[in-house]
Order: sequence, then structure tokens, then C-alpha cells
Amino acid sequence: MQHTSVLLKEVVNGFENLQNGGICVDCTIGGGGHTEGLILKYPNISVIGIDRDPQAIKIAGENLSRFGMRVRIFQRSFSDLDDLLDGLGIEKVDAILADLGLSSFQIDETERGFSFKKAGPLDMRMGLNGKSALDVVNNYSAEEIERVIRDFSEERFAKSIASSIIKKRPIMTTDELVKAIFSSLPSYAKKDWKKIVTRVFQAIRIEVNDELVNLEKLLEISKRRLKKGGRIAIISFHSLEDRIVKYAFKEKEFMPITKKPLIPGNDEINSNTRSRSAKLRISERV
Ligand SMILES: C[S@@+](CC[C@H](N)C(=O)[O-])C[C@H]1O[C@@H](n2cnc3c(N)ncnc32)[C@H](O)[C@@H]1O
Repeated sequence: MQHTSVLLKEVVNGFENLQNGGICVDCTIGGGGHTEGLILKYPNISVIGIDRDPQAIKIAGENLSRFGMRVRIFQRSFSDLDDLLDGLGIEKVDAILADLGLSSFQIDETERGFSFKKAGPLDMRMGLNGKSALDVVNNYSAEEIERVIRDFSEERFAKSIASSIIKKRPIMTTDELVKAIFSSLPSYAKKDWKKIVTRVFQAIRIEVNDELVNLEKLLEISKRRLKKGGRIAIISFHSLEDRIVKYAFKEKEFMPITKKPLIPGNDEINSNTRSRSAKLRISERV
């Protein structure tokens, strides 16, 4: 499925400082939709696009090829932004955008193991390297699995889910993991199994990809790499991410442009259900 960009108009309008041109870093280029919107609105900018996922790099490259050298795309984590900019000889930039989470094509591909709705191998890596969901589920101790589930999903059955996972190991596929989670639930909670499984999958994905650590690193890097008057916009999809962004934007380097996060209206949610939990916060470097 083609990825539909979330809060596109709000993101594009939020970077009004790009009116006269500048360098924009799209940290999560995905299918390239936000970058395309920005280039069309601000014809004098150039974009450095980043994604960890080789598939996103390919799709964004195809979708944005008509803009030529105005968009340069790199496969890496946005937590390495310092190194990337150093390598390009760029000291500071005018705009930084991160649209967190997954692209639709990542969720759709069974082989990547992101979705519990289809049986697939336990992977969940956005990039090619590092630990996978298979490692987390089969090699972590019960205490570690419980910590991952509790800290990253705030799921109240974390302890019993972790002990069920330990008993059922080895667990090789997404459907085996779903069964292990389901069987750990008390009967009164079984009717909520989909919500619970969604949360546990999200927690494992956060652990596999070090998502919160990378977000914190990006916010730290942004303080040094954004020009004065430059803007940063972050779209988050769950409360743990939003909390990190909210507190970072309270630091003295930033002046929030959005006092409250911008959220999609009913029309957007109806046409793209994935947008329903999105929150956009924008801040200016002072
Ligand atoms: C929601 S999608 C972005 C969609 C994009 N804004 C668009 O309009 O098409 C998020 C993307 O961020 C990438 N991603 C997540 N964490 C990353 C990280 N630490 N470094 C680089 N890319 C990351 C994912 O691989 C995914 O392609």
C-alpha cells in the first residue's frame, strides 16, 4: 500500500521559515510525501532525506526522482545526523522533520513481522542491522521481557505475558507470539486481546529499533544543528514519544510554535485511520 502522509498541510505550513529557501532534513523520508509537499510549497529549498529502511530509500528515490539533486537520500538512522551532516560539510540546517513510526508498506509486508494480523517471521527491524524481535522474544530473560512490555506499552499484564512467552519458547513467528500473549490473559481480559497484542507488538518494536533512545538523540542533535530561527517538527504516534518531544521543547533552546499538539481532523482520520493517534509538535530554535 502507498503510504499516505499524515498532517501534511500542517507540517508544510509549519515550516514557513523556509519561504526564502534553506536546507531541510527529512529524518524519516518513508514514501517521500512530506518532502514532496515541502519542495512544492518552498521551491528554493533542498532536502536531505534519511531512512533506516532500504525499501523506503528505494520508494522515496523513485517518487522524488523528478526533483534531481534537490533531494539527496541516505540510508541510516537519524540518530547519526551529526555524522551525516559532518560528512556533507553542513554545519547547520533550517528545518528538521521526523514523522515517527512505520510506513504503510512496512506494515503490509508479512516478512517484516510488524503486524500481528498475518503470520510472519519475528523480525520488526526497520533497518537491516541489530537485534530482531526473534532475539528479544527468545533470548531476553523474563524480567527483561516484562520491563520491555511494561515500559514501552504500559500494559498491566506485562508480568504474566512475559512468563507465558518464556514457557512457550522457542517462538519463531508472529502468530505463535499472539497465541502466547492470548493464553496468558485472564478470561475477563480476553475480549480485549487485540488491543493488548497491539500494545505488546509496539513495545517489542520500540525495543528492537531503540526508538525512544534515537528520538532523544535526535532532539539533542537538533539543539546544535538547527540555525537560530530554524524549525523542528515531530509527529509522534504514542504517548511515550509525545512526552519526550513535549519535554525537550520546554528546554531553553526551543520556543514551541504549537502550544498544544496539532492532531488530525475527522476527515483525515476517516480517510486514513493510521493518522488517528498522530500528534504534531513544532518548535523554533532560539
Ligand atoms: C511514518 S514513516 C514516514 C513517512 C513519510 N513522512 C512520508 O510522508 O511518506 C516513518 C519512516 O521512518 C523510518 N524510521 C523510523 N525510525 C528511524 C530512524 N531512527 N532513522 C531513520 N529512519 C527511521 C521508518 O523506516 C519509516 O520509513
